[in-house]
Amino acid sequence: MTGSTRGLGYAMARELGRQGAVVVLGARSAPEVAAAVEHLQTEGIAAFGRRCDTGEFTDVEALRDEALSHGTLDIWVNNAGTSGVYGPTASTPVEDFTRVVRTNILGTFHGSRAALPVFLSQGHGDLVNIYGQGDRGPVALQNAYASSKCWVRQFTRTLRLETKGSGVRVHGMNPGLVETGLLGHVTAQAGYGHRLGALQVVVGLWGQTPDEAARPVVRLVTSDAAEFRFLTARRLATRGIRNILAGRLRRANRMPLDVTVLAPNP
Ligand SMILES: NC(=O)c1ccc[n+]([C@@H]2O[C@H](COP(=O)([O-])OP(=O)(O)OC[C@H]3O[C@@H](n4cnc5c(N)ncnc54)[C@H](OP(=O)(O)O)[C@@H]3O)[C@@H](O)[C@H]2O)c1
Repeated sequence: MTGSTRGLGYAMARELGRQGAVVVLGARSAPEVAAAVEHLQTEGIAAFGRRCDTGEFTDVEALRDEALSHGTLDIWVNNAGTSGVYGPTASTPVEDFTRVVRTNILGTFHGSRAALPVFLSQGHGDLVNIYGQGDRGPVALQNAYASSKCWVRQFTRTLRLETKGSGVRVHGMNPGLVETGLLGHVTAQAGYGHRLGALQVVVGLWGQTPDEAARPVVRLVTSDAAEFRFLTARRLATRGIRNILAGRLRRANRMPLDVTVLAPNP
């Protein structure tokens, strides 16, 4: 599981661990990997981990080899993801766009490239790629993130075609809005920070805890389902009503929103 020291990745690792999987965590911060592994182990989950930046193929191969040293590789989740600076593409810092592409696009390719040969040679395995906002269409002011998720969906559907009949199952998952650091710590271009004020209300209406958002991964890897999408009209209506009844909208600030605004960029 890439990107699994916090947020959705950690919650999915815990959910799979509770179901009996041996889980192997990876992220860029070695101390955070060690802490996350320790937390899972105290729950009785067989957890291991190593530092892994998904932008580096050798790191991803080493994470796969770490998993293989503990048994067979049955499930691989390309979860590591990052958001870009909020604002127009014309003034997006070039290095920021590159950072998003490196993790969301290259990282998903690297994880798939590392896991699939093992899956294909053993004749089974479940690969899960994590989608996100923009996977089905354009999102203004979030072009790096949204377009990367559109790429992830297209890439995943292509892998599904390429692995047809091999015993390998490829899935995509869009978890919907999850109360994590990815949503809570946002960077905006100058003049765009104020537009993020409504985010807490949107999260109050439709947000889920990481534990809630993680549950569908178990159904995915135990089925041939191509995709899980939280963002169906029925799920949004049910979640909205449930969150209002639970008082979560009134406590919309339960997910602290920390917006950093960049200096103007020509
Ligand atoms: N939160 C949402 O509302 C939402 C909605 C739809 C989809 N998603 C998707 O769900 C996934 C997880 O998001 P999240 O909200 O849980 O994010 P998060 O709370 O920010 O956690 C991201 C995790 O990924 C790791 N990570 C980031 N860049 C990495 C890299 N290059 N290599 C390896 N690990 C990396 C982080 O650890 P380090 O920083 O130590 O590396 C951390 O463990 C992402 O793919 C995201 O796009 C999230």
